[in-house]
Amino acid sequence: MPSHFLLTVVAAVLLSAAYSQPLTTTTTYPNCNRTFSCGTITNVSYPFIGGDRPSHCGLPDFALTCRNNTTTELSDGSLTYRVLQLDQTQKTLILSRSDLYNDTCPSEFHNTTLNSTLFSFDGRRNEVLNLFYGCNSTAMNMTPHNLFSCNSSDFNFTDAYYLTGPVPRDPILRILYCSVGITVPIPRTVGNRLTAPGSQLRLGEALMEGFSVNYSVPYERLCIECGRLGGQCGFDSVLGQPVCICGDIPCPFPLTLPPEGK
Ligand SMILES: *[C@@H]1O[C@H](CO)[C@@H](O)[C@H](O)[C@H]1NC(C)=O
Ligand SMILES: *[C@@H]1O[C@H](CO)[C@@H](O)[C@H](O)[C@H]1NC(C)=O
Ligand SMILES: *[C@@H]1O[C@H](CO)[C@@H](O)[C@H](O)[C@H]1NC(C)=O
Ligand SMILES: *[C@@H]1O[C@H](CO)[C@@H](O)[C@H](O)[C@H]1NC(C)=O
Ligand SMILES: *[C@@H]1O[C@H](CO)[C@@H](O)[C@H](O)[C@H]1NC(C)=O
Ligand SMILES: *[C@@H]1O[C@H](CO)[C@@H](O)[C@H](O)[C@H]1NC(C)=O
Ligand SMILES: *[C@@H]1O[C@H](CO)[C@@H](O)[C@H](O)[C@H]1NC(C)=O
Ligand SMILES: *[C@@H]1O[C@H](CO)[C@@H](O)[C@H](O)[C@H]1NC(C)=O
Ligand SMILES: *[C@@H]1O[C@H](CO)[C@@H](O)[C@H](O)[C@H]1NC(C)=O
Ligand SMILES: *[C@@H]1O[C@H](CO)[C@@H](O)[C@H](O)[C@H]1NC(C)=O
Ligand SMILES: *[C@@H]1O[C@H](CO)[C@@H](O)[C@H](O)[C@H]1NC(C)=O
Repeated sequence: MPSHFLLTVVAAVLLSAAYSQPLTTTTTYPNCNRTFSCGTITNVSYPFIGGDRPSHCGLPDFALTCRNNTTTELSDGSLTYRVLQLDQTQKTLILSRSDLYNDTCPSEFHNTTLNSTLFSFDGRRNEVLNLFYGCNSTAMNMTPHNLFSCNSSDFNFTDAYYLTGPVPRDPILRILYCSVGITVPIPRTVGNRLTAPGSQLRLGEALMEGFSVNYSVPYERLCIECGRLGGQCGFDSVLGQPVCICGDIPCPFPLTLPPEGK
């Protein structure tokens, strides 16, 4: 078969494919009236996606998954968080790191990060918990309350320490060497219980209680207006724009923002 014939066939197929799908085809955004529910987290809508809510119904930063019908998780690309509470009215989440949930010895060591444009760490209700791993204190012959053990192939020492507060002022940490340190937010109330003399609260349990963050809803004013007019907000990641959806197509009316203020 001559090669120019093949090329012609390929070109014809490509052309007919292009013409059968003209640019004027209306994109559809189905199922954005569905909500996400998983375990105790129920009736979740925009900007969240996941479960029954397709990705065009919200933003990728708000992707939820449901594990075993019971556990809701939020992933930020590098870390996964258990969602213990989600309040769409207050716009607050209580999150616990999945890798540290009842587990003080994760397989990899990462600092807690969330996109700070969208998620604001509540500094009045939370404080910072520092976890230090691979510390060479074995020779010191003492067992302070904040010592725990973590055996990892990443380092030669199994001693680990936790400390609350911003600055490691702990006298022990000044004289020993630790391979890696990570920071995790915890509620101040939990931090106080953890460090109280004679505390029975274990570190792993403290980490299960999670920490609170507030989130902001992208295009919130536009979406309130969309909802007021009977639509559902979605997000077209190809266009990089929010869409106001009626049925499963963009609403026929234009959205104009009411003037700022009440
Ligand atoms: C779900 O939320 C909508 C508003 O977002 C509300 O109208 C509806 O009653 C809620 N349903 C349940 C089962 O909570
Ligand atoms: C989750 O619940 C659905 C319906 O309630 C059921 O069909 C499914 O098997 C459950 N899955 C698991 C992993 O329990
Ligand atoms: C899944 O949920 C069931 C109860 O709904 C529970 O018995 C089971 O242990 C859970 N499995 C995991 C892996 O969490
Ligand atoms: C937490 O981990 C401990 C020890 O691994 C285990 O005994 C306990 O059942 C776990 N608790 C929960 C709620 O998973
Ligand atoms: C975590 O952040 C601290 C500073 O806040 C830094 O010293 C440390 O190296 C970081 N740990 C990791 C594993 O990136
Ligand atoms: C955080 O989110 C904002 C809004 O979606 C985005 O513009 C920005 O690039 C994100 N930042 C990072 C570090 O991902
Ligand atoms: C977080 O949200 C709560 C409830 O809406 C509010 O009281 C608090 O001031 C907010 N905190 C921050 C840091 O935005
Ligand atoms: C731990 O390592 C540091 C730095 O290598 C060293 O100065 C210190 O003496 C060591 N401490 C113990 C208890 O081995
Ligand atoms: C740590 O794990 C290694 C192998 O995984 C083992 O040989 C070593 O005895 C363990 N150390 C402690 C203190 O548990
Ligand atoms: C562990 O100790 C051995 C021998 O002292 C050394 O070669 C190796 O680099 C150490 N590994 C780490 C992760 O520090
Ligand atoms: C959701 O929207 C579809 C059209 O996309 C409609 O057929 C369905 O009745 C709606 N369901 C609810 C619960 O509003």
